[in-house]
Amino acid sequence: MEESRPEDAALGFPPCQRMGRGSQAREACPLEGEGAAVGGLLLLALTGHPKRRRGGEHGSDNDDPAGEGAAKRQREAPPDPRASPSGRLALDYVVPCMNFYGICVKDSFLGEVLGARILAEVEGLHRSGKFRDGQLVSQRAVAPRSIRGDQIAWVEGWEPGCRAIGDLMANVDRLMLQCAGKLGTYDIRGRTKAMVACYPGNGRGYLRHVDNPHGDGRCVTCIYYLNRHWDSKVHGGILQIYPEGRSVVANIEPIFDRLLIFWSDRRNPHEVKPAYATRYAITIWYFDAKERAEARGRHQQAQKKGAEPSPEGAQENGPT
Ligand code: OGA
Ligand code: MN
Repeated sequence: MEESRPEDAALGFPPCQRMGRGSQAREACPLEGEGAAVGGLLLLALTGHPKRRRGGEHGSDNDDPAGEGAAKRQREAPPDPRASPSGRLALDYVVPCMNFYGICVKDSFLGEVLGARILAEVEGLHRSGKFRDGQLVSQRAVAPRSIRGDQIAWVEGWEPGCRAIGDLMANVDRLMLQCAGKLGTYDIRGRTKAMVACYPGNGRGYLRHVDNPHGDGRCVTCIYYLNRHWDSKVHGGILQIYPEGRSVVANIEPIFDRLLIFWSDRRNPHEVKPAYATRYAITIWYFDAKERAEARGRHQQAQKKGAEPSPEGAQENGPT
């Protein structure tokens, strides 16, 4: 089942310059209490904050009442990336966790208030019939519902009724920007739209697959879960990841306000076990600039030759 994966909204992804702008969300993601045991994988645990620089976020400038020193430092030194909770989350947790495990889980990512607004919007989209059956690029001979049982909607984040989803996107963008240059050797400068997905709870899931098996440009998968009171023993719906070359399985419960990040390529085959209650998640894929440009080049060549679009090519167009 490695060939099956969702189509992305490749041509709709916002340019890198837009990443991180327009967030209405407050600062979130405190590091205290971090450390998640996910199946057999014990993810990196962080308990302390790094030492704050004098004159930083909470530094004292009492010996410089005019603040001239601080202003000068600001002109001269680049801002401390660890000055904000999200900067610390990025550099002290996400980066080491991804580079070591290739999978990273952050609970309580946005907090109760914004999480609830996002859930309300997703429920609204569902009620108003905005979801369509999830699509597969290949495996057309197989009845898709037996492979992939979700329904999806693509969202840019500015649409009416999607502003909180836009805040989520801005928060994840900011996190990715704060990881910039440190996630493997990737050069992340763009992403897909957000794919809002609903498994209706009829016992369907998504068979084992790899998101990006053929180099379509996607390097990092970020999934934000929205399900309160999720009990996997009753509701199923666990995401199982089988990291390549390791004899462990990561069992990820799709719980409310959890952010999951993993490499999109063949290092992380995964499957959604059958879900017996409505299960909501929002996925954003981030692109490596070079791999993306190469994939687009291949697609354009194929189009010029009038060839049947390859599965990768079809992905370039995306459903939106
Ligand atoms: C996907 C997928 C996992 C999940 O949509 O490609 O693997 O937990 N989703 O919803
Ligand atoms: Mn997937």
